[in-house]
Amino acid sequence: MTSMLQVDKVTTSRIQEVDMNNLDFGRCFTDHMFEMQYAHNTWKTGQIKPFGPIEINPALNVLHYGQAVFEGMKAFYVDEKQINLFRPDVHHARFNRSCRRMCIPETSYEVFIEALEILIRLDAAWVPKKRGTALYIRPFIFANENYLAARVSATYAYHIIMSPVGAYYGEGFNPVSLTTSPDFVRAVPGGTGEAKTAGNYAASFLPAQQAQQDGFTQVLWLDAIDHKYIEEVGTMNIHFLIGDTLVTPSLTGSVLSGITRDSVIQLAKEWGYEVQERKISIDEVMQASADGHLKEVFGSGTAAVISPVGRIAHKGQEITIGDGKIGQLAERFHNTITGIQYGQLDDYFDWTHPVSIHI
Ligand code: COI
Repeated sequence: MTSMLQVDKVTTSRIQEVDMNNLDFGRCFTDHMFEMQYAHNTWKTGQIKPFGPIEINPALNVLHYGQAVFEGMKAFYVDEKQINLFRPDVHHARFNRSCRRMCIPETSYEVFIEALEILIRLDAAWVPKKRGTALYIRPFIFANENYLAARVSATYAYHIIMSPVGAYYGEGFNPVSLTTSPDFVRAVPGGTGEAKTAGNYAASFLPAQQAQQDGFTQVLWLDAIDHKYIEEVGTMNIHFLIGDTLVTPSLTGSVLSGITRDSVIQLAKEWGYEVQERKISIDEVMQASADGHLKEVFGSGTAAVISPVGRIAHKGQEITIGDGKIGQLAERFHNTITGIQYGQLDDYFDWTHPVSIHI
């Protein structure tokens, strides 16, 4: 296949500046990035170029009205010849769904996967090798017409940047703590909760800050109408092991359709668990804990991977799950999903997209 992209390589890599043994989440970026512009109703030819600043005009539409979407995906070091992308096809499908909701023109899978393969090959040395680390990939599109009227932009910029990362939460693969928020909601029916759009995250920062001041890692979001059905955590989806049933809040339109969430559900069914995607109220969870039926709670997400939950607080009541320790099922999901990602376990579901490399 002939390339659809122009490639401009760096002359000197910055990789020596990075301590691969001490990686934060999303603070340093690889040598190259992808860029593609949209104007006159069409996406132009994309470019791979040195990572660097982009010039913006103060009237840039996205700065004022937030018309922007993004994805979060990962690549994993297998060996000196192979790096695995994890489920790029479903990430791209979700990217396009977010675009549709935010009136942003969709992009083709062919360009997406070609850009990723070129970037991974050029920046293969940036994929960290240690278990628990990965190359985080951030595709994003923003409205870039320079005007102040509140209407859909006619032009867009599409970028893919990549960052070697360690664990998302300071806790690493250790239980995090969650609290419901008495005052705020993340998303409303008919709103943008299902889209991966910038404003959803901006709106969650104040309640998240309050939760952290109160000693919790994140907010456990409840629905906006009844303020009792559990939705998600904002940085991850959530799962409850009640008895032997794995209960996951259903995708109501205000919950992000997580790709790790989907992987957890597929694996749980394969392992013979009863899996229920349904409405689950915070009262049901507190009661299941009181009755001794709440065996485990854990989150799932690209950045968060599988994140055990050790404590949940709601309206002044607090429960501890599994003595605040890592649950067996969470650990099994973690080991299986990461085992598949690092190419150490059979990729039974065909989730990985291998990229051959020569470092
Ligand atoms: C991801 O899991 O990739 C996300 O986009 C969550 C983000 C808050 C880091």
